[in-house]
Formats: sequence, C-alpha cells, structure tokens
Amino acid sequence: MSSQVEETVKRITVPDIRNRKGGEPIVVLTCYDAPTARIMDPHCDVLLVGDSLGMAVHGLTSTVGVTLDMMILHGQAVMRGARRALVVIDMPFGSYEAGLETAYANAVRVMKETGAHAIKVESGPTAPATIAYLVQRGIPVMGHVGLLPQSINIDGVFKAKGRDGTERARILQSAHDTADAGAFAVVIEGVAEGLAREITEAIDKPTIGIGASAACDGQVLVAPDMLGMFDWTPKFVRKYADLRTEIDRAVAGYAADVKARRFPAEVETYFSKKPATP
Ligand code: KIV
Repeated sequence: MSSQVEETVKRITVPDIRNRKGGEPIVVLTCYDAPTARIMDPHCDVLLVGDSLGMAVHGLTSTVGVTLDMMILHGQAVMRGARRALVVIDMPFGSYEAGLETAYANAVRVMKETGAHAIKVESGPTAPATIAYLVQRGIPVMGHVGLLPQSINIDGVFKAKGRDGTERARILQSAHDTADAGAFAVVIEGVAEGLAREITEAIDKPTIGIGASAACDGQVLVAPDMLGMFDWTPKFVRKYADLRTEIDRAVAGYAADVKARRFPAEVETYFSKKPATP
C-alpha cells in the first residue's frame, strides 16, 4: 500500500461502532499479530486482541495465566498491521478487578503502549463501577457478559450460560449495568438465542455475539477456530478454512524434500558471481 493511500484510509471509531446498533452487522475477529492484522483489516470493523491468545497462541489451558505484558506485546503487533479497523484489547485476569485506580493505571498502560482505541473487560459484579470510572476518564470500554472465560476456576468448565431462570436474570441485569455504565458495545458469549435477543432488544449499545446466535448486532469468532487451526471445533464456530491440514501438508512436503535433497534446488540457491573476463 503506498503512503498516499495509507493516509486516506479512514479509521473506524468508537462512535462509528456505537452507531451501528440495529444497523449493518458488526464484523469482529480476534487477532494477535501484525501480518494477520494486515489480512483481516479490510474485512473487519473491529480487531479484538482477545486474551484467548493465551490458549490460541501460547498453549495455556485457560486465559487466567495471561499477563498485561503479553496483551501489550500482541496489541502493539496488531496495531502495526491494522489501518482501518478499530483495535480493542482485552484486559487480562487480575488487571482490573482489585480497585478502580489499579484498573485505570493498567488500562492507561495498554492505551499508551499500544496506541489501541479501546479495551474490553469481562463484566463480573465489580465491572460496572470500573467501566464507569474508565469511561469518565477517557478510556472507551467494551463489556462482556454471559460465559466469562476468566471465571473458569469458579465455573469448572466452559459451558453455555443463562439456561435457567436465575442465571438468565443475572446475565440480563449484568448487560443492563454494563451498558448503563458507559460501555460502547457488549460481547455476549455462550448464551441461548432467546437471552441474546432479549439483551440485544433491551440495551441501547450494540451486542457482539460469540456462540450467542444471529440475534446480536454483530459477531466475533476466535480467528484460529474459524481458520481451522485446531482438531476440535465448538458447535457455534463455522470453519472457513482448514489451515491445520494445509500447514500439516506443507510441513510434511518440506520435510520430505529436505530429506530427499530436493530442497533447495538451483533456483533457490545463490551462486558466486562469475569473475569478470579481462
Ligand atoms: O478473548 C477473546 O477472544 C474474547 C472473545 C471470546 C470475545 O474475549
């Protein structure tokens, strides 16, 4: 892309996303590195540097071990690749729950050190006060209700939420509180269609669903899931590619060629320049 074209690309803003409530569906994918951000950028409204990177990239068994430094490093990389999409960075477990001032200091670090446009927090019971505190101080916040992966040690397993009356009412209340606190959008994860629809109709901010039906104002998927990087795919994911098979095939071909001395060939080899004839 020439620098002239680069200058004319208009960045999607937080108000642009907020104004998409009930309008054209919002396209979101998780993204963790610069080359992938470059590929996704023309197609996505929001690139989410999700703390799912702990599992998707670093091989952790949950997102609990993800640190602020990890989020900042990946956030910086995504910002180098994204020109048009709004970039949102997840606040990892332990970085925003202890108190308002700690949450603010950590969110400021993320915004200053990455240049990203917003952060996301999982909307546990303390989140609405934190969201209000951050938004009042100039930090746009995306909320996240339903299945909260950072609470895996309370829940024990990753499974759909809000399927009984009490839990359903609690999630609906949490979505209201998150929106009222000033979140510009709310991720709804792992809930049944009826609850996602009720939340989407009840709050005045766009909802972004993951495993939460087509009733939401937009959709997000964990990119390596939809690209087919893993041998297991959750029910709510549609696989748009089978990169695991592609990579396996490519690496097997490379290994066979190296072993058979078919790689490198002459076209892939540098040779000394011929000495100039006197
Ligand atoms: O971390 C993440 O990727 C997320 C999505 C599941 C929304 O929060």
